[in-house]
Amino acid sequence: MQTVRTSEELTRAVAQLKRRGTLALVPTMGALHAGHMALVEEAQRRADSVAATIFVNPMQFGAGEDLDQYPRRESEDAEMLERAGCELIWVPSTDDIYPGGFATTIKVSGVSERWEGEARPGHFDGVATVVAILFDLVGAEHAYFGQKDAQQVMVIRQMARDLAIPTQVIACPTVREPDGLALSSRNVHLSPDERAAAPVLRRALLAGRDLWAGGERSGDAIRVAMAAVLAEEPLADPEYVSVADGLTLAELETIEGPALLSLAVRFGTTRLIDNEPIGLD
Ligand code: PAJ
Repeated sequence: MQTVRTSEELTRAVAQLKRRGTLALVPTMGALHAGHMALVEEAQRRADSVAATIFVNPMQFGAGEDLDQYPRRESEDAEMLERAGCELIWVPSTDDIYPGGFATTIKVSGVSERWEGEARPGHFDGVATVVAILFDLVGAEHAYFGQKDAQQVMVIRQMARDLAIPTQVIACPTVREPDGLALSSRNVHLSPDERAAAPVLRRALLAGRDLWAGGERSGDAIRVAMAAVLAEEPLADPEYVSVADGLTLAELETIEGPALLSLAVRFGTTRLIDNEPIGLD
């Protein structure tokens, strides 16, 4: 496995890998866990080589968010990627991605506007901008993202389609702890009590999914049921509870096709998100 930092080193390494066949990209912000590794494994199954990036992208963090506290563990991350058989890691500096004079922002309308976009103004502009740069510089055939951040996948798909970037965006299922908590680099910030309470997100989503499976189609009824499960957990402070159209993310009165149940919940200073797609097949 080769680790590169500058875009010149990256270009050389990518050219070498591309001579061997198809290349897959797995963009990350590091502090890797089994959720990230599942993306690497799926990428390996579907491409001849895999390049992962580790870059804590300042542009996607708002003022007062956890950029400074974001866990940084480059050597452990590199070991995990090497063990998984990743061929290349790119660990750019902020200057490599945003050189002096950088003045462009990519703003995706529509799917970026509700939920995470509303709660974190500018967040998806930062995500779309950095991912466009990564796609452009790596030029991979496919890129792998987690369904855990369902709205992020939708924003990135829209951005790639609109900018005619040929990298195919592939979403992989959410990896969870045995008690249902979605793996996240932010879980380390939970106190033991908060960690014990956090699986309530999954319970709320499953309550919503069960109602839907039983024939309930009212968005309100499902939102109320999910909120009631969250309300049973005193440490959980819900930020949003959504039943949205699976394609547009518009909030639904009545579920008629594919939909996305999603939640953002605070536990103390830690904000967790999770979602459950329904009616996809
Ligand atoms: P990060 O939070 O490091 O996540 C990197 C990728 O791992 C994302 O596609 C995310 O959805 C996926 N992921 C995280 N937890 C997961 C889980 N439990 N199961 C499956 N996949 C999971 O998301 C970002 O970084 C950044 O916004 C990025 C796309 C790298 C742009 O900066």
